[in-house]
Amino acid sequence: MITGLSHVSIVVPDLAAATAKLKRMYGLEAEAPQVNEQQGVRLAYVVLPNARIELMEPTRPDSPIAKFLERNPAGGIHHFCLNVDDVDATAQELTAGGARVLGDGAPQYNVHGERIAFVHPRDFLGALVELEQH
Ligand code: CO
Repeated sequence: MITGLSHVSIVVPDLAAATAKLKRMYGLEAEAPQVNEQQGVRLAYVVLPNARIELMEPTRPDSPIAKFLERNPAGGIHHFCLNVDDVDATAQELTAGGARVLGDGAPQYNVHGERIAFVHPRDFLGALVELEQH
């Protein structure tokens, strides 16, 4: 079951430059960067009262977001993330309804150790959607 909006995620070519720009131009303060080895990304969050902005840069050439940066060198919105009460149950329901849940079925985790999954953009109106369990 979907319970809320977690974050909007932006791929950037330079995480330090991106967080500095958000601070300078918008007064938005990013938390300290963290690395998600499984996903091949270094990321930093700007925490807002009702959701977060996730900034990501690749940590290795075969990172899934390295290809995104090849197509969009200046970066751009990559996905948005919905909170769900149970990733496995939600993924099962969505799959039963015809949506494609990405990955090989192995559990995926975010930097906070929470379960995540991704839904194919073609099955959500053209937007890549992450599901995050809380
Ligand atoms: Co995300």
